[in-house]
Amino acid sequence: MSMTNFSGRLAVITGGGAGMGRELVRQLAAEGCHVAMCDLNEANMTETRELALADAPTGTRVSSHRCDVSEPDQIQAFRDAVLEAHETDHIHLLFNNAGIGGGGSFVKDPVASWEKTFNICWGGVYHCCRAFLPALLAADAGHIVNTSSINGFWASIGPQTPHTAYSAAKFAVKGFSEALITDLRINAPHIGVSVVMPGHIGTSIVANSGVVLGRSPEQMTSDEIGDLRDQLAATGLPVGNLPDDAIRELIRQRARDFRDNAPTSAAEAANVIIEGVRAGRWRILVGEDAGIVDHLVRSDPEAAYEPGFVTRMMEQGHLQQLMESTGSTTRSES
Ligand SMILES: NC(=O)c1ccc[n+]([C@@H]2O[C@H](COP(=O)([O-])OP(=O)(O)OC[C@H]3O[C@@H](n4cnc5c(N)ncnc54)[C@H](O)[C@@H]3O)[C@@H](O)[C@H]2O)c1
Repeated sequence: MSMTNFSGRLAVITGGGAGMGRELVRQLAAEGCHVAMCDLNEANMTETRELALADAPTGTRVSSHRCDVSEPDQIQAFRDAVLEAHETDHIHLLFNNAGIGGGGSFVKDPVASWEKTFNICWGGVYHCCRAFLPALLAADAGHIVNTSSINGFWASIGPQTPHTAYSAAKFAVKGFSEALITDLRINAPHIGVSVVMPGHIGTSIVANSGVVLGRSPEQMTSDEIGDLRDQLAATGLPVGNLPDDAIRELIRQRARDFRDNAPTSAAEAANVIIEGVRAGRWRILVGEDAGIVDHLVRSDPEAAYEPGFVTRMMEQGHLQQLMESTGSTTRSES
């Protein structure tokens, strides 16, 4: 049974301060759905709330709560604060959307950034599902929406860039969500579940992830910039003589390119997600690029991690910008 009307329902949305989370808050509130969001960035949540209320019917409630979803204790406190703020014991929708990129190399990256990425992208989904399950069970209808990625079925952003923590987390999100379908059908049939697999969406996730991991261009030390210069030079980029400030600007430019040159906007993505939930679909691919990668991985799985796989995708006009802004290829190589 799918939930077709969100008016008067209560949705919990993690990572509501920016990107797809912000657009989910706005679009659901515009339908008269009450929303409780969390994020690390309180100023961004204030902005999201103002934007959402400006388009929402009178009486729609939008609350914001600071919570780091990689910390189970903070999630418990978030859950308690949501139920108190909305004077209820139940919620209808849980969007586990918060996420960051990072922890690329299992071999070379610090354990701390690997585990932070995994604990946000997987731990946040798992612990929010645990914490909010009683409130979903208490509702007359419920739906869990877990955001995975194309990296939930293809563990790569190209042959030159390790991508282990994020991929491991997003595969876990997808597997957990798919297994929940049967569990919920047997044990809580009034609750549905969807897994969202976006392709390249135009958000500030590259810049925001840098801040969360202490790796923004402003936070990086001169030694870290030097290591990055060496890595970029090893991929063939002529950066060997660039001063630190130019490397910092290159990082900023890549984050802007990722946001500004994506084939799908955050607002379009949120709309696809909401309509997918309304239609009762468990499997929500977002963007034409996501559909192409899904098809290519299924049709030739053995080839998925060979360099030619990415070339075939780019020949079909997909993922060029994703590869460039993550440093997996340069325009001259393609
Ligand atoms: N943008 C893409 O191309 C893309 C593709 C596939 C999947 N995704 C996934 O979509 C989801 C949303 O990403 P986005 O692109 O909108 O990114 P975004 O950076 O625009 O928004 C993510 C929000 O989550 C918040 N956040 C990060 N860590 C948090 C934490 N520990 N606790 C609470 N909030 C936290 C950030 O502050 C930010 O406001 C993520 O799970 C991401 O992995 C994004």
